Amino acid sequence: MVFAAVFAGGIGSRMGNSDTPKQYLELGTKPVIIHTVEKFFINDRIDEILVLCPKAWVAHTKDLVEKHLPSGKKVTVIAGGATRNGTLEAAIDYIEKNYETDEQTVIVTHDAVRPFLTHRIICENVDAAIEYGACDTVIPATDTIVESADGKMISSIPERSKMFQGQTPQSFRLKELERVLASLTDDEKAILTDACKIFSIKNKPVYMVSGEVYNIKITYPYDLKVAKTLLKGKDSDD
Ligand code: CTP
Repeated sequence: MVFAAVFAGGIGSRMGNSDTPKQYLELGTKPVIIHTVEKFFINDRIDEILVLCPKAWVAHTKDLVEKHLPSGKKVTVIAGGATRNGTLEAAIDYIEKNYETDEQTVIVTHDAVRPFLTHRIICENVDAAIEYGACDTVIPATDTIVESADGKMISSIPERSKMFQGQTPQSFRLKELERVLASLTDDEKAILTDACKIFSIKNKPVYMVSGEVYNIKITYPYDLKVAKTLLKGKDSDD
């Protein structure tokens, strides 16, 4: 069974003072989160969808799902955690408590605020998670990446051709993910906020699926403007 877990548990502090977390802001005719959930809803490789949002937004999110998505695929809305890792743990707990899982169970985790993911990216994530146990979605870095230990002086400049930028989805065989998370110490848990990084630190393979430049994450108000422009461009391409 393949689950999509849409991570919408954040409050979007970098978007400014809005009372509305960025995943609920309107993009064209519907909220950002609905664009994202729809991509999984229409994808045949995804069996069920979990949406994890702030506790205070669960009822509103359920209403949105009911209003915008036809019946058919099961979409379950539950509360996420206080951190992104907490949200991942909430997704795993829910799946384990409510379903029979095995070594073939896959979880495709995705930021609710990346509404432009594609059918290809989802399918390649599912295939890679089954084959390798874990995968990340990345694009080649276009700018030179500069590393600085103190934020003032350059410590190193890695070769650009070996640098990639991480996006989401990040997908895993569920049992493999559980084993890797269980192997973390409390200190490691506090600093390791990226599930793919956890795999790589534990010397587990993580396959790279090619993302898209336009698979942007809405982080700042500028990104929402870019998203609106991208959406208009997509509509006029159709
Ligand atoms: N996220 C989550 N649970 C959390 C924190 C974040 O599910 N406790 C989700 C966000 O809702 C978002 C994704 O993880 O879809 C990427 O995180 P980010 O862009 O950092 O979102 P926020 O935490 O909402 O933003 P900010 O850091 O500006 O507060």
